[in-house]
Amino acid sequence: MSRDIDALLKRLGLGAVNPGAWSGSRGWSDATDAALMDVRNPSDGTLLAQVRPASAQDYEHVLSSAVEAAAAWREVPAPKRGEAVRLLGEQLRRHKSDLGTLVSLENGKILAEGLGEVQEMIDIADFAVGQSRMLYGLTMHSERPRHRMAEQWHPLGVVGIISAFNFPVAVWSWNAFLAAVCGNACVWKPSHKTPLAALAVQRLCNSVLEANHLPPVLQLFVESGTELATRFVADRRVALISFTGSTEVGRKVGERVAARLGKSLLELGGNNAVIVDETANLDLAVPAIVFGAVGTAGQRCTSTRRVFAHQAIAAELERRLIHAYRQVRIGDPLQSETLMGPLIDAHAVERYQAAIASARKAGGELLYGGNALDRPGNFVEPAIIRARNDWPIVQTETFAPILYLIPVASLAEAIAAQNAAAHGLSSALFTDRLQNAEAFLSAAGSDCGIANINLGTSGAEIGGAFGGEKDSGGGRESGSDAWKAYMRRQTATVNWSRELPLAQGIEFKVAQ
Ligand code: UN1
Repeated sequence: MSRDIDALLKRLGLGAVNPGAWSGSRGWSDATDAALMDVRNPSDGTLLAQVRPASAQDYEHVLSSAVEAAAAWREVPAPKRGEAVRLLGEQLRRHKSDLGTLVSLENGKILAEGLGEVQEMIDIADFAVGQSRMLYGLTMHSERPRHRMAEQWHPLGVVGIISAFNFPVAVWSWNAFLAAVCGNACVWKPSHKTPLAALAVQRLCNSVLEANHLPPVLQLFVESGTELATRFVADRRVALISFTGSTEVGRKVGERVAARLGKSLLELGGNNAVIVDETANLDLAVPAIVFGAVGTAGQRCTSTRRVFAHQAIAAELERRLIHAYRQVRIGDPLQSETLMGPLIDAHAVERYQAAIASARKAGGELLYGGNALDRPGNFVEPAIIRARNDWPIVQTETFAPILYLIPVASLAEAIAAQNAAAHGLSSALFTDRLQNAEAFLSAAGSDCGIANINLGTSGAEIGGAFGGEKDSGGGRESGSDAWKAYMRRQTATVNWSRELPLAQGIEFKVAQ
C-alpha cells in the first residue's frame, strides 16, 4: 500500500517533503526557518508526507506576485480568461482519479466522495467558462436628456481564499474559478490538515497556466499556525477574503476584514435539520438522512445534525434509521464497500466523545453507536440520540456523525424548532403534502440559505448559490449570481449632450 501511495504522490508531482509556497515566477519556496509539517493518514496515523510551510518572506513574494498578476490578468478579455479556466477543468478531468484518491487518503472521506469532490471542481470550471461571457451589468434610463447610464463590473484585484479540511479542494475551486474569470488573482491558504491535495491542485493548475504563458493568477501558501493567515486577513492588498470554517474563527475573520473595510465572504457552520412529516415517504427520507448524517463522517457544513420527526411516524423512522445505521460499513475510505471513513484527527474524536457524553448527561437516549473504535486511525461509530432541541449540545455544531432525533407534534413546531438554531445553512422537509412543502419554502418557513423538499441537507449542486444565514455567515458562493462577490460594480453615466443638466432638477448657475 505504501508503495502505491508513493506512486500516487509522485504522479501528482508530490514527494516525501513538499515546499508549501508558490510565488509566481519565483517558483516553490525552499524556506527552512520553520519545522516541517507532518501530514498523517487519518485511517491509520501513518505519515503520508511532510510539507515545508511558507516563511514570512515567501508570503511577501506570493502577495506581491499576485498583485502583479492581477494587474496583467484584468487586461485579458473575460472570455479568454474563461478559456484558461476551461483548460484547468480539462486538466482536472485528466487527473480526476488520482486527485480524488489523494483527497480520500488525506481527508478520510470515502473514495466516491473524494471523486465527487473533484467532479465538483470540474463542474464549477464548466460553469465559470460560461459565466465568463455573462458578466452582465444593467443599463438604466437616465432622467437627463442625452445621458446614458450603465453599470459595469470590474475585477477586485487579489482574492484571498482560506479553505477548510472537509472540502480541501472543491470549495477553493468555487471561489478561484469564478474569481479568475472575473479577472482576479487568487491567493489560497489551504487547511494545514489537508495541504497535499491543495498542493497537487496548485501544481496541476500552474502547469496549465505556465504552458499557456498566462500570468500566475493562482497562488498558495501553507502554514501550520495562524501568523501568516492573520497577516493575510488584515492585508489591504487582499480585496476579498473568502473564508470557509467554523463560526468562531469566521466571526474573527469577518471583524478583522471589516476593520479595514475590506470585503469578506463567509461560509461557516451549520446545524442542519431534516423535518419528516406524517405524510413523508420514508423510503426517501431514511437514505437521505443517513447520507446527510454519516456521509463525510458528519464533517460537512451541510451535514444533517437534527431530525424533527412527526410523532405519527417517529417510532417507524427511528426503527428504520437504526436498521440502516447497522448496514454502514466503517473502515478504509479507499475500499469500495466502505460508507464511512475516519474523522480528520484525534481532536475530532475527542469532540465526538465529549458531545456524546454531554447529550447523555442532558438525558439523551443513545439509540445507536456512541463509541470510538478501538483500532488505529480516528474511527468512531455513527450515533443516533433521542434528544430535545433546547439542550445546549443539540444547539452546538459538532463536526462528527451524531444525529439528534427529536419528536414533534406539527410542522409549525418543527419549523420553529429548526429556525431556533443560531445557524441557518441547510434544511430539508420530507413530505407528500403540497401545502406543507410550500409552507416550508415560504417567507415564514425555513430561514436557511438552502431549503430542500424530499432530498437531504447535504450534497448541493454547484449551479445554485451556496451559503447560509445568521451564524452560517451570510456569504453565497458557487452558482447563480455568486460571481458578483468577486467584482466591483461601477455605475457609469455618460453625458453626450452639449448641456450640463443636474440631477434632481437642481439649478446651479455659475458665472464663467
Ligand atoms: C462544506 O461542507 O463546506 O452541499 C461544503 C454539499 C457540498 C459542499 C459542502 N456540495 O454538501
